[in-house]
Amino acid sequence: MSKALRYLAAARPEAATNLLGFYKHSVQALDDKTRHLIQIVTKVTVGTERGLRQYAPKALKAGASKQEILDAVLMAFPAAGLNKVLDAITILIDLELMPEVEGNAPAATVDKVLGPIADFPMRKMQCVNRPDGDLIVFRTGDATAKVYAARCPHSKATLCKGVDHGTQVECRIHNWVFDLESGKCVGPDPEDKPGMTEVAADVRDGVLTLV
Ligand code: FES
Repeated sequence: MSKALRYLAAARPEAATNLLGFYKHSVQALDDKTRHLIQIVTKVTVGTERGLRQYAPKALKAGASKQEILDAVLMAFPAAGLNKVLDAITILIDLELMPEVEGNAPAATVDKVLGPIADFPMRKMQCVNRPDGDLIVFRTGDATAKVYAARCPHSKATLCKGVDHGTQVECRIHNWVFDLESGKCVGPDPEDKPGMTEVAADVRDGVLTLV
């Protein structure tokens, strides 16, 4: 449940119960796959990343193919317009929910150099955009830094667009918070939640380099 819905359930319990009950009981004739594909169309149309990340995996689990998910995204085009459709496709590529197409393979070799360590601010998160997946660098000393994959371990949203809390970053999608020193999830209810994926890197001649 999102932070906002948790809040609403506490602040207006009756309203929240009725709202959630409506979603649960109103649609009766459509099967799960059809419902989730229609949800994709609506999420693309209103441009909600959170909803798209929620319902596209559900559609796949309910038996939809990646081609059908792509079709659902494209069905939104007349109402959503090109930019929202392209944004949705970007998110679904991240989630590995778009069909494979020839000629879209990632570059075979990628530069391992991230940059001079002195260019990274001390104890502040910094994103590095790379063709093989964005990274988050958190410099911890003159010649030390932690490097993480920027994808949230929950549902692969980019933490580069997360809320920067200094030594912590909060994912904007479901509000998990990660400590940048350890990479661990620190809330909410962090027990059993995976941490950020650390990427091996070291500093060679003053340059931060992937191992
Ligand atoms: S995608 Fe759910 S917390 Fe980040």
